[in-house]
Amino acid sequence: MNSCILELNDVHYNYSDGTTALKGVSFQVPRQAKIALMGPNGAGKTTLLLHLNGIHRPSRGTVLFNERPMCYSRKEINLLRRRVGIVFQDPELQLLGGTVYQDVSFGPANLNLQEDQIHQRVRQALELCGITGLADRPVHSLSCGQKKLAVIAGVLAMEPEVIALDEPTASLDPEASSGLMALLDSLNDRGATIIISTHDVDLAAGWAGQLVIMDGGMVKLAGSPEDIYYGREKAYNLKLKTPLVVEMYWHLRKNKLVSDNRATPLTREDLLEIIKRSGGKDTG
Ligand SMILES: Nc1ncnc2c1ncn2[C@@H]1O[C@H](COP(=O)(O)OP(=O)(O)O)[C@@H](O)[C@H]1O
Ligand SMILES: [Mg+2]
Repeated sequence: MNSCILELNDVHYNYSDGTTALKGVSFQVPRQAKIALMGPNGAGKTTLLLHLNGIHRPSRGTVLFNERPMCYSRKEINLLRRRVGIVFQDPELQLLGGTVYQDVSFGPANLNLQEDQIHQRVRQALELCGITGLADRPVHSLSCGQKKLAVIAGVLAMEPEVIALDEPTASLDPEASSGLMALLDSLNDRGATIIISTHDVDLAAGWAGQLVIMDGGMVKLAGSPEDIYYGREKAYNLKLKTPLVVEMYWHLRKNKLVSDNRATPLTREDLLEIIKRSGGKDTG
């Protein structure tokens, strides 16, 4: 089995109006990775995600899936889209209508599967997303978070190996947001490779195995959050907030309230552990 499921080599992309959105992006996506794309608006995150299942074709450079350069024939693209599912930022662009059940069954129904196989895939996808109870609801009557879950169920019903989500938590309340991240983790545990774009540095630092920080159509910095934040307060001083936990840790260190730690904390639990070890009392 290959270790890299996707690879971008020097990908450039120009929109038809002449806007250059990607200027030589290269990075590798290991199988079963959890990757967060970050960077300011206009950095090229969405454009990059749309290259992963062939919606966009590089103006220059290549995208490899399973170590093979992508082919852009209709047949190959159809095959690729079963294996790489994309969840757009706006669920309205992806919902087809009818009931949730009908919407989710649309993809598998196009795979020439037997009725009972389609039914089983839809049921399983609805269950994974925790929306079995919404199966008979018209999609237009759902809340934003529910619509997002319905789109994700539709993607899961295709049983993709890679799931890419564009700003998945952007319009969700905190509970829906952590529920969604828990879902992505459970899909990852089952073998899926997950790529998200996000502006939420706290979420990304605590969740991702790899951060890819973009700006101006280029990758400015890539690596594990541990490596990116180790020993420094700021990962990248341009247009990117520092995760709150990292900032707190540096503040506590500067004020000699905690001792130096070999690894920079990335989650609240990490930071609490350091505080406890430094003699602080945890009364929670
Ligand atoms: N459909 C489009 N036509 C022309 N330019 C576009 C289009 N979509 C995005 N762009 C431009 O491409 C660049 C990258 O945009 P985008 O990939 O949406 O960035 P991000 O998702 O990081 O905010 C920006 O300059 C944006 O204005
Ligand atoms: Mg975007």
